[in-house]
Amino acid sequence: MSKLRLGVLVSGGGSNLQSIIDHCNSGYLPAEVAIVISSKEGVYALERAKRHNISYAVVDPKKFPTKEAYEDELIKLLKSSNVGLVVLAGFLKVLSPHFVNAFQDKIMNIHPSLIPAFCGEGFYGERVHKAVLDYGVKITGVTVHFVDEGTDTGPIILQRAVPVLDDDTPEILAQRVLKEEHKIYPEAIKLFAQGRLQIHGRKVKIVKGEEN
Ligand code: GRF
Repeated sequence: MSKLRLGVLVSGGGSNLQSIIDHCNSGYLPAEVAIVISSKEGVYALERAKRHNISYAVVDPKKFPTKEAYEDELIKLLKSSNVGLVVLAGFLKVLSPHFVNAFQDKIMNIHPSLIPAFCGEGFYGERVHKAVLDYGVKITGVTVHFVDEGTDTGPIILQRAVPVLDDDTPEILAQRVLKEEHKIYPEAIKLFAQGRLQIHGRKVKIVKGEEN
């Protein structure tokens, strides 16, 4: 079976990108990272791509006259890399229906909370964890979902709970949540690669595979 080709979109450190690369290299994921595209120059995620000899590009939205022109460039690069799944991994741009339609049901995102809590516009990075701590919830977590036209609104693939502890700071909580992200994202991508994710409206059904 040919490997699923991933296009990973990043804007930052890329620890999720690293976890995906590692899970491809270990053989856990029947996939390969075909291209990494960053919305910003100089981010550490690009170093990770270079170190692993993965094609990469910087596509800076500020250099395009319209969002559509920016997204056209992303679409062109991803299609010419024969990408079968677009993986958003700390990508800080909201994609419009123009992009979403070009990869219908083939875009995943990871969000560092249990959606629908602490998500949507403005909830990114440490802001999510700060909001979690300010609210006083005892459990937060991670969500992997398909991307639709909204912000963090697409059908949920997998979720995992992470405890919030009394002495947590946003940084400490972010690290605990990230640890879980690094496990759950490869799991979700693997299910996709195995053809085991069926979308029925808002719900994603995981069909049984050979191992269960
Ligand atoms: C992660 O917390 C992810 O859930 C969110 O952005 C962060 C990216 O971290 N979407 P990294 O760049 O993968 O280290």
